[in-house]
Amino acid sequence: MTALHDTFQRPLRDLRVSVTDRCNFRCTYCMPREVFGPDFQFLQRSELLSYEEITRLARIFIQLGVEKIRITGGEPLVRANLHELIRMLAPLPGLRDLTLTTNGSLLRSQAQRLREAGLQRITVSLDALDDDVFQSMNDAGVTVDTVLKGIDAAREAGLAPIKVNAVVKRGVNDHGIVELARHFHGTGVIVRFIEFMDVGTTNGWRLEHVVSAQEIAERINAELPIEPVERSYPGEVAQRWRYRDGGGEIGIISSITQPFCGDCTRARLSPEGQLFTCLFGARGHDFREPLRNGASDDEIAAMLRRVWSVRDDRYSEIRSEETVGLPRVEMSHIGG
Ligand code: GTP
Ligand code: 5AD
Ligand code: SF4
Ligand code: SF4
Repeated sequence: MTALHDTFQRPLRDLRVSVTDRCNFRCTYCMPREVFGPDFQFLQRSELLSYEEITRLARIFIQLGVEKIRITGGEPLVRANLHELIRMLAPLPGLRDLTLTTNGSLLRSQAQRLREAGLQRITVSLDALDDDVFQSMNDAGVTVDTVLKGIDAAREAGLAPIKVNAVVKRGVNDHGIVELARHFHGTGVIVRFIEFMDVGTTNGWRLEHVVSAQEIAERINAELPIEPVERSYPGEVAQRWRYRDGGGEIGIISSITQPFCGDCTRARLSPEGQLFTCLFGARGHDFREPLRNGASDDEIAAMLRRVWSVRDDRYSEIRSEETVGLPRVEMSHIGG
């Protein structure tokens, strides 16, 4: 099959599959409790793509260029038997990288079975090592220790490399940047610091909350000297840095101050089968209806070709006062 490219000649390489819009955390920057409270209407079970439906789409997408699949949410480990989905995806021919982003709270009990099902590596979110700060951010009473135990379980299960994602919000957890770096220095775990983004419409984002990638690098470099490393694949989101003393590496994700749309090869599938061609999209393209109404693999592939070939998204590059107010999907729905 001929390779698929969008209007900026970007291929489709990565598929991010959100398996649920639910999460057991209420991170203030993602699912603020005032919005995602007891009355919030989450998707019903019947609306979610089944694991068979996800696997069928994945197989077709791989034929059109996808090499990497990341499972996200909401929190993917709250969906029942997630390891069964991993078991179905892992053997797909052409899939080179299968990974998952989790908040780590349920990882201790699931790491081993995820690994056995064929998961290769994992990314765990952890925004602070100070319990008060972490709990004020997750707003769900989950302790730092719970997440660290999840990371240990992932390591013991042989998931590697392990990455830790920390969203940095000025005045909230930025004073803990160096502490996080120091904690994982020399352990093989790669911490990635993420500029707080204006995703969704409920997280009250303001530019003054953002600590730039440059400032993050400077603050770490002042205490733990670092030097830049070449990116490991075209379109890699994180800028890589390594400790000059051989203590491993870190990443910094600069969606606000140094956008990376030019290399963006990512498509995102929502839990109910809508395909988004940008994290900041307002609407997706429905793949569930054809899946459930007897469309052939060729018809689904043709739909994907149509969607990708007209793709012209580059939200982070054209972000402005006006775009920040536009409607768009919530991060907890589409995954990061
Ligand atoms: P690796 O596969 O390990 O390189 O990780 P990744 O780059 O896929 O990272 P991950 O999924 O952990 O994402 C880290 C952060 O980068 C999250 O906050 C994402 O929302 C953000 N991110 C990932 N992809 C994009 C993107 O296409 N656009 C923007 N603006 N942010 C992104
Ligand atoms: N800005 C940056 N990163 C965010 N994440 C969630 N919301 C935001 C935001 N507003 C992160 C999560 C997770 C990853 C998938 O996205 O912490 O690590
Ligand atoms: Fe849940 Fe992740 Fe959003 Fe936090 S950032 S509320 S853990 S989906
Ligand atoms: Fe890709 Fe959209 Fe992110 Fe740009 S803003 S990197 S186009 S997902």
